[in-house]
Amino acid sequence: MIDRIDRRGLLAAGAASAGLLALPGSGLAAGRGDRFFHPGALWPDDKGVHINAHGGGILRHGDRWYWFGEHKTAGAGGNVAQVGVHAYSSADLYDWRDEGIALAVSDDPASPIARGSIIERPKVLRDPATGRFVMWFHLELKGRGYAAAHAGVAVADRVTGPYRFLRAGRVAPGRWPQNVTDADRAMVDSHLVKDRPGGQMARDMTLFVDAGGTAWHVYASEENRTLQAARLTPDLTGHDGAYWRLLPGGANEAPAIFRARGRYYMIASGLTGWAPNPARSYVADRIEGPWTALGNPVRGTPEQAATTFGGQSTFVLPLPAKDGTERFVFMADIWRPKNAIDGRYVWLPIEWEDDCPVLRWRDRWSLRDMGAGV
Ligand code: GAL
Repeated sequence: MIDRIDRRGLLAAGAASAGLLALPGSGLAAGRGDRFFHPGALWPDDKGVHINAHGGGILRHGDRWYWFGEHKTAGAGGNVAQVGVHAYSSADLYDWRDEGIALAVSDDPASPIARGSIIERPKVLRDPATGRFVMWFHLELKGRGYAAAHAGVAVADRVTGPYRFLRAGRVAPGRWPQNVTDADRAMVDSHLVKDRPGGQMARDMTLFVDAGGTAWHVYASEENRTLQAARLTPDLTGHDGAYWRLLPGGANEAPAIFRARGRYYMIASGLTGWAPNPARSYVADRIEGPWTALGNPVRGTPEQAATTFGGQSTFVLPLPAKDGTERFVFMADIWRPKNAIDGRYVWLPIEWEDDCPVLRWRDRWSLRDMGAGV
C-alpha cells in the first residue's frame, strides 16, 4: 500500500490535478527553508514527503508546535484509517519534522480503532495538572459507515505519543442538554430525544480551552444538524455530563474556535461531505452560547466565497502575541476524496473587518506579513 506521497510522485501526478493551486512559477511544492506558506501547494516535511496530517489541529508545547492529523493513504479507500494519527513538529510553522504515528490503528479486529475504522479530526490538549497529553477524535467503527458517530479518547505521556486508546462512545447518555427547552423535549422524533438514552452523536469536532480554563469538546451532533459543546472533566479524558446545543438546526460542521478581543469566534462549514461549501462565522461571549452569525468570512471572488478556497475549516491557530496584538492562522483542508493522500492544506491569516474575522486568498504569505515572526 502506498502511504507516502513524495514530490516526484506528485510531479508525475501532474500540474493538472494541482490546477490553479499550483505555485506560480515555482513548481508544485514549497521548498524547505522557504519562509512562506503556500496555500494549496504540496508541503514537504523534513524527508521531502507531503505532510500527511489532514483534518488536523496544532498544540504548542515547550518551544515547538505539534501538528496532529489524519494519516491518509492513496486512492479512494485512503480516507479510512489504515495507519492512524500522524504527528509533526516545528519550531517556526514552516518546516515540519515527521514525528511518526502518534496513535496507531489496532491490529485487533475487535478494537474500536481497528484498521479500517474511520479516525477523523484529531485534536490534542495537555493536562497541566498531570502533564499528560489527551487526544480526542471522531471515530466511526469499521464497516459501519458514519453510523456510530463516536468520540474517541487516547492519552500519552509524551506529546508525540505513543497514545494509548482509552475509550470511545456517544456523548452524555441519558442526559438533557443544559439549555434544553420544553419544545425540544416535546420533539419526540428528533435526534436529540431519540439519541438521549444511548448518548448524542459526535462527528466533526474540535477541542477548546476557554478563558476560565474549562476544556470543551465541540462536535457536530444530531445527524449534523446541530453543534453541541460538551464540558470535559478536569483530567480532559471524559465528559462531565454537561452539554449545550449550539445554533440548533444550523447544519454546521468542521468547527474551529478561537478567542480574540475578549470574545469567542467560530468558523465552520456547511454539510456537503468532501465537497467544499461556503464557510460561516459566529461570535459568542461564552462557549455555551448564544452564538451570533457573522456571515461568510471569505472575501474574494464569488467562487472563493462559495467554496472557501476549495477547503473546509479544521483549526484556528493562535500565534504568540507580539506587541500586544493577537494574530490567528485559519487552517483548512482541500480534500481529495479520489486520492485521499493528496489532500492539501490552506493556511491563511485571519484579518479583521470591524469585529468580524475575514479571510482573503494569498498565493503565498509569511508570518512577517502579519507582523508575527515566531
Ligand atoms: C465531511 C467532514 C469530514 C469527513 C467527510 C466524510 O463533511 O467534515 O471530516 O467526515 O465529511 O464525507
